[in-house]
Amino acid sequence: MSALPVNVTCEPAVSEFRRMLYADLREILLIENRAYQFCWTEGVFRDCLRAGYYCRVLAAPNGGAIQGYGVMSAAVGEAHIFNICVRPELQGRGLARRVLDHLLGIARSEAVKTAFLEVRASNTPALRLYSAAGFCEIGVRPGYYPAPRGRREDALVMAKEL
Ligand SMILES: CC(C)(COP(=O)(O)OP(=O)(O)OC[C@H]1O[C@@H](n2cnc3c(N)ncnc32)[C@H](O)[C@@H]1OP(=O)(O)O)[C@@H](O)C(=O)NCCC(=O)NCCS
Repeated sequence: MSALPVNVTCEPAVSEFRRMLYADLREILLIENRAYQFCWTEGVFRDCLRAGYYCRVLAAPNGGAIQGYGVMSAAVGEAHIFNICVRPELQGRGLARRVLDHLLGIARSEAVKTAFLEVRASNTPALRLYSAAGFCEIGVRPGYYPAPRGRREDALVMAKEL
């Protein structure tokens, strides 16, 4: 399998959002596999696309490299953010904040009142991202996620009023 180009020359500031396509999944899965220890499968992404969830990618213009992506559902006043991920070599440049803001903008346009998400208790970068964006912890799902050596890890449930 050919590796993704790691010498991404595109400037994140000029990247733009577009809808995720089935044809993006190969590139997305390569990013997903490098970004997460326990990552989504292709089938999960396909289910989200088939379900009509808001699946968006942040990419360089004119078919350039995918830099990050987000997946969210929005219906009857609630949004659920299921995934936000940034290509590892482009992390720490404000791209996840852009993806999150973009998804929340869609949620507002869909008259969402509350946005929810779940995050691993140990995922400090994500917890800081969501806290800084105004998400508050509203609960815990004990042992929700798989963890190394067959263990389980809690999910923190967070919410933000829009
Ligand atoms: C979590 C993740 C999406 C953050 O992406 P990113 O593009 O690096 O984040 P940003 O540069 O937009 O940073 C936004 C905020 O997130 C927090 N943050 C991001 N990386 C961080 C890190 N390594 N340590 C602590 N806080 C961090 C900070 O609050 C930061 O704001 P600041 O720069 O003003 O302090 C990225 O690390 C990632 O893709 N991780 C793997 C997938 C994942 O865990 N997704 C979340 C699932 S719930």
